[in-house]
Amino acid sequence: MFSEFFISVPNFDEIEIWYNSLINNNRNKVFIINHVESKAPLGMVEISKIDWKNRNGHIGILIGNKVNRQKGYASDAIKIVIKLAFDHWNLNKLYAVVAENNLPSIKLFEKLKFAKEAVLKESVYLDSGYFNQIIFSLLKKNYEQEIGFYNS
Ligand SMILES: CC(C)(COP(=O)(O)OP(=O)(O)OC[C@H]1O[C@@H](n2cnc3c(N)ncnc32)[C@H](O)[C@@H]1OP(=O)(O)O)[C@@H](O)C(=O)NCCC(=O)NCCS
Repeated sequence: MFSEFFISVPNFDEIEIWYNSLINNNRNKVFIINHVESKAPLGMVEISKIDWKNRNGHIGILIGNKVNRQKGYASDAIKIVIKLAFDHWNLNKLYAVVAENNLPSIKLFEKLKFAKEAVLKESVYLDSGYFNQIIFSLLKKNYEQEIGFYNS
């Protein structure tokens, strides 16, 4: 039944091929957030699941080391990709899907003027049970109305 393949632990070349397919994929735009002086990677920000026909994409963000959080890095990085998404790629809508117990992310997207668009009931299972997820979204027209904020 399984004679047409075998499984193995990936070697470095295979990981590189997988990684390149991830970042060079037309539906995903992945960026590393680097510290200006040390050049150290602080985290990543991506627009994924890009739907070019309907011109929307999902935004994801991670600041890896907790000591680097609450310093404004995520806010500034997202402002950069927001500008790319609307001004350069001509998307119409960005959205994020946030677990309702993820206070830092909720604060982040509220600060960035994303609107609370919908609640997905009990759609994620975490350690202590099922949680709602909140969809936050930003439309290009709302971005353009607040262009000064996103340029700051
Ligand atoms: C969510 C995350 C990216 C925020 O990164 P960050 O660099 O700390 O965010 P910022 O410093 O730009 O903060 C943005 C706002 O959120 C607030 N905030 C961030 N963390 C907070 C916390 N733990 N408690 C309360 N407010 C918080 C900040 O105070 C700031 O608001 P303010 O300027 O009005 O004070 C980071 O916590 C993280 O990587 N979490 C794990 C991954 C994750 O959950 N990603 C999001 C998936 S949708």
